[in-house]
Order: sequence, then structure tokens, then C-alpha cells
Amino acid sequence: MSGGATMPQVDVIGVGINATDTIIRLPHFPTVDSKLELVSAAVKPGGQVASAMVACRRWGLRVRYVGKIGDDDAGKLQITEMKREGIEAHWVVARGSMSQSAFILVDQSSGERTVLWKRDSSIALRPRDLKRRWIRGARALLVDGHDTAAAARAARWARQEKMCVVGDFDNRYKGVEALLHLTDFAVTSKDFPARLTGENDLSKSLPQLYREFKFRLIASTLGRLGALAWDGARFYLTRGFCVDAVDTTGAGDIFHGAFVFGLVRGWPLEEILKFSCAAAGLNCEAEGARGGIPSLRKIAQFRRSATRSEAAYAPEVLLEAAREARAATESEVPS
Ligand SMILES: Nc1ncnc2c1ncn2[C@@H]1O[C@H](COP(=O)(O)OP(=O)(O)O)[C@@H](O)[C@H]1O
Ligand SMILES: [Mg+2]
Repeated sequence: MSGGATMPQVDVIGVGINATDTIIRLPHFPTVDSKLELVSAAVKPGGQVASAMVACRRWGLRVRYVGKIGDDDAGKLQITEMKREGIEAHWVVARGSMSQSAFILVDQSSGERTVLWKRDSSIALRPRDLKRRWIRGARALLVDGHDTAAAARAARWARQEKMCVVGDFDNRYKGVEALLHLTDFAVTSKDFPARLTGENDLSKSLPQLYREFKFRLIASTLGRLGALAWDGARFYLTRGFCVDAVDTTGAGDIFHGAFVFGLVRGWPLEEILKFSCAAAGLNCEAEGARGGIPSLRKIAQFRRSATRSEAAYAPEVLLEAAREARAATESEVPS
């Protein structure tokens, strides 16, 4: 099937979550049975894939986004924002439903955030919501691991079109394994690998998942400590960039946007990871998931002068883990 009319050529396509965040800044995290005066409360657009796509667009890529909303004000905000950003958006609307929303508590002293979220099951993206022609004419597809069956369908189509598939995984939602099999670059939260493997040490769990799902690369983001990646041959440890964190909401989202951006630009992995850490770190210096997306010039300037975090892993630990991982791969190859 041709899937209908041809769509304009874009650089990247994102299929997945958008959310409307109420960011509540607090002097400190609340305790049970207490009262606490908040610092500020503001409604901002967010959501994993939607925010990543906004970052790609701001950096000059041509972007298509596919997402689901309810027919409420939060949904209207999402539509308006994507239009304002110049993103070609395709909306699946669930009538009589609430768009995804989150209440995000931000601890003023560290900028660290805690997300309280609610998602009506009727706004889950289903495979039949997707149109074949939306997943065409781009270099890369970004999906998240929430509505896994729909994401897997998009990923399958993307691979048929020779696009590379980047996946943003944080929780172990049903069906995520099938999606992982269709992912080229898995970029996960630091806790996701343990949720799948039961192994708490990323230097072991990343190669384990790499072997199982045959990625081109798997990486986990480590908050202020940066990111750790494994490409089947070696680890890439990218130390974080020290920033004055006001609100870490969206750090992971902007990291993913930056990662896809670097892939589309054809940069080497080390450069992609450094750029992503710097961009995501700077995004933490302002409020909201998309509030601090820095310009390319600002990222370049910042990278020249910024202090880096300590290393999350000692080099000898990673060298030894890499040796073991390569040995495990070799012993799997049938002779
Ligand atoms: N406090 C921080 N200081 C500097 N960089 C940060 C901070 N928090 C996050 N980052 C950057 O953002 C990336 C993603 O953040 P992380 O906390 O791992 O994801 P998530 O948004 O899923 O919690 C990290 O790899 C790091 O580069
Ligand atoms: Mg974080």
C-alpha cells in the first residue's frame, strides 16, 4: 500500500509522548503531613518525544511529530506550541479525554525534579492511529517506550525506509522488548537497564542488553554525571557538564533531541554524546522541559569553558568490563 499522498521531506520524525507540565518549585521536597509555601507554579509544554523534537527544530532540522492529545486546553496548548515552533505535527485526538498532564515538584536547592503524572488510557497511541505516510522521508525516527505497540509499528516502517531508530526508554512498559528489537540506538534512563536485566551495574547491563537486542549503541544518562554508552567494542563515558541547575525537568528529553540531531549531522559518537550532555545540562538552567534549550552557539561556547563532573566510573573498571563483554560476545558466536 502506498499510504496515500506524499509528505514533505524532513530530517527527523518523532512519534510519542507530549505532556502539559505544571512545574511547582518548592524550597525543599515536602514531608508527609506538612504544609509548604511554594515558590512558583507555572504551566509549560513538555513530554519526552515532543520536547526532543522542539530541540531538533530549534537547531535547524526539519521535523515531523506524531502524537496523541485529548480535546482539552492542554491539547490545544500542544497544537499551538508545535505550530509556533514550525514543526509539522500530526495529531490523533481522543474525544472526551484529558491530554497527558504532569505535576512536577522541583526542589529549589538542587533543581532536581519529581514527576507526578496521569495518563488517560484513551490517549494511548495505538498502532491503528498511525498512518504509513507519516513515517517516511526522514533520516531518523525517535520513539519513547510508553505506547510500545504503536512505537514498534512506527519503528518497523522506519527501518523499511532505511531510517535509523532511536528509542528513549525509562520504564519497563508492556511490550517494550519487541520495540527494543527494532531499535538501533537505545538511550535509556540510568535505572532502565536494571529493570530489564536485574543487574545494577551499568558496565555489565549495557553489554548484556546490547547482545540481546542487537543495537548499534546503547547509552544510559546519569543525571549530572553525564552518560555511559556501549557500542559493542568499547565504552564511552561522557562526564557531565557543571551547570547551575534550576529545574532538571526535560534533561533527558533534550539529551535525546541532541542525540538524534548529532546522528542526523553524521557526527562521531563521542561528539554526539558530549554535545548531548552539554545541551541537556544547559537546559536545566531554566524552568520547564523546553525552557532552557540552548542555541548551537551557546552550546559551543559553554563546552569551551565549562567544568566537568567527576567520572561515574574509573577507566580501569570500564576497560575490564569491556574485556569481559567482548569475551561474552565471542563465546556466543557459533563456530
Ligand atoms: N543536575 C545536572 N547537572 C548537569 N547536567 C545534568 C543534570 N541533570 C541532568 N543533566 C544532563 O542531562 C542528561 C539527562 O539527565 P538525566 O537526569 O539522566 O535524565 P532524566 O531527564 O530522564 O532524569 C544527563 O546525561 C546530563 O548530561
Ligand atoms: Mg534527571
